[in-house]
Amino acid sequence: MRYKRLGNSSLEVSVVGLGTWAIGGDFWGKVDDDRSIRTIQRAVDCGINLIDTAPAYGGGHAERIVGQAIKGRRDKVVIATKCGIVKQGGRITRNLKPESIRKEVDDSLTRLGVDVIDLYQIHWPDANTPLEDTLNEMVKLRDAGKIRYIGVSNFDRKLMEEAASITEIVSLQPQYSLLDREIEKDILPFCREKGIGILTYGSLGGGILTGKFKERPQFDKDDRRENFYPFFKEPLWSKAMELVEVLRQIAAEVDKPVAHVAINWLNQQDGVTSALVGAKTPEQAEQNAASAEWELSQEQLDTIEAAYKRIYG
Ligand SMILES: NC(=O)c1ccc[n+]([C@@H]2O[C@H](COP(=O)([O-])OP(=O)(O)OC[C@H]3O[C@@H](n4cnc5c(N)ncnc54)[C@H](OP(=O)(O)O)[C@@H]3O)[C@@H](O)[C@H]2O)c1
Repeated sequence: MRYKRLGNSSLEVSVVGLGTWAIGGDFWGKVDDDRSIRTIQRAVDCGINLIDTAPAYGGGHAERIVGQAIKGRRDKVVIATKCGIVKQGGRITRNLKPESIRKEVDDSLTRLGVDVIDLYQIHWPDANTPLEDTLNEMVKLRDAGKIRYIGVSNFDRKLMEEAASITEIVSLQPQYSLLDREIEKDILPFCREKGIGILTYGSLGGGILTGKFKERPQFDKDDRRENFYPFFKEPLWSKAMELVEVLRQIAAEVDKPVAHVAINWLNQQDGVTSALVGAKTPEQAEQNAASAEWELSQEQLDTIEAAYKRIYG
């Protein structure tokens, strides 16, 4: 495994991080908790030290499972969780009001079974709360020793600028993969310039970039990933399949899994600190971790770029 410093923090994180959205059990189909615990533990055994979770994943379930999995291994992991998505009056809503965050952080610490959260991230912006109020509260939580560093997620360039002018933001967690390169326009350059770390989500496009889907999958009704990742539907599905074919050829050349090509492409983009990759089984976690053992050649990167331009224009 390789490690990189996260932004201007003192955290050294693995270039492949473990995402735990699916482990929450409420969006990606049925999951088995015992297997989820073994998945997290296998990831850690393979050198993955960055675990990304959120109260929103299964209404706290993912955090509880992470807490169980890291018992006795706390010193081996960097825990990243989030705030700002809460259940109010039976509805899931955005809330970044200071009093809500104060409650959320204590609930997360309890579920995770830890004294401090290494990276506390705003999950989604909340247009009804001044960003300054939210960040000032997060600074208080940092001063109180409940969190170590502040990060954000799903922020555009304007919000990034505003946040960085209020306090130190060590990382941004955006969607970024070969299927969604939106952040390259203005957010990625801004983070690079300011030394803000980037933790990518949807690194495998929800599984598409593993090359395992030969046809458009029909998910069980409790697996709602195609509502979040639009590449499972036309017209993006056909384009994704064309690109995956190119990744497949490169993977075959080097005798590695297709997922490695997608993860390594991300980690070879200037400014990316770590690719967060979701895993549901110990085998997936182990396979994804192993991508850190090699890198794409410049020629392979050029082949991917040319294919991308041809397919997406
Ligand atoms: N901040 C945000 O708003 C936000 C939003 C989305 C995600 N995230 C974070 O980012 C993490 C990563 O994104 P993601 O989980 O949504 O999507 P992803 O990493 O693109 O895809 C993960 C899924 O791909 C499949 N997979 C993974 N490795 C595989 C392998 N080696 N072989 C075959 N299949 C494999 C698994 O599902 P199947 O086996 O069921 O196919 C897995 O659940 C999340 O878990 C979460 O922590 C954050």
